[in-house]
Amino acid sequence: MSKTIIVTGRGGTGKTTFAVLAARVLPSPKLMIDADPDQCLGVMLGVDLAENGVHTVSEALYEIQEGRVDQELKAMPLAQKVEYLLNLSCLYESSEFDLLTLGVKWTRGCYCAPNDILRGLIPRIVDNYELAIFDSPAGLEHLNRRVLTEADDVFAVVDPSAKALRNVKVVQEMAGSIGIRFENLYLVANHRFPEQQLDRLNEIEGAVYLGQIAPDPAVEEADWEGRSFLDLPPDSPACLSVAGILRRAGYQPAQ
Ligand SMILES: Nc1ncnc2c1ncn2[C@@H]1O[C@H](COP(=O)(O)OP(=O)(O)OP(=O)(O)O)[C@@H](O)[C@H]1O
Ligand SMILES: [Mg+2]
Repeated sequence: MSKTIIVTGRGGTGKTTFAVLAARVLPSPKLMIDADPDQCLGVMLGVDLAENGVHTVSEALYEIQEGRVDQELKAMPLAQKVEYLLNLSCLYESSEFDLLTLGVKWTRGCYCAPNDILRGLIPRIVDNYELAIFDSPAGLEHLNRRVLTEADDVFAVVDPSAKALRNVKVVQEMAGSIGIRFENLYLVANHRFPEQQLDRLNEIEGAVYLGQIAPDPAVEEADWEGRSFLDLPPDSPACLSVAGILRRAGYQPAQ
């Protein structure tokens, strides 16, 4: 049975860091999906897409729209073309993880068609893995894109602000109204959350607070130097705290 995780939250709270550290401590095979147009997930995973000749999904859709695809592809129906290109040129593969990057929102031509196709395709790709971790952009607009409508666990990384807590409510309401289904909504306090405020996270209905990501100078250092977060030592405070959070959600991290 494969498991799908969505990481969500407001801007700059530590979503991508949490997603990468989850990849660091959970067993393979796993698929990482970057739904943020900023494409930070690849950087934090130490992957240079261009160097590896890997395209974003948006780039592949653009090639199709422009008719810049091989002759034998031209005759294929759109859905088949997209599936072919996704598997052939958009999937970065390695022994530790695979990575699919959605890229900037598809806005040229009629973007309903490619989005509808992606909505059908992405769950099929996810099914090939034991685990898929979906890193969201800040805000909730991406939910509207609905490329992934079912998940096992949503981890909301929250910063210490009333807005962040309201944001959790909005995720709950919006998921209900636009039809995104998930089993569990977990709250994770970010590295800046003051200890004396943590109790507030136990009071949110319909969500379970699992713990805090420890502040870790090694994370900041890796970030400044553009190094992969996957190289953080397993006993670093951030890795240990993320492993604890995942364990409380029923996962089996390596350490
Ligand atoms: N545990 C931590 N300890 C110290 N610094 C951290 C920690 N987690 C994240 N940071 C720092 O916080 C900043 C934001 O982290 P990150 O990029 O993961 O957030 P994000 O929510 O994905 O941001 P965005 O909304 O832009 O996608 C980064 O500079 C990162 O180095
Ligand atoms: Mg991010």
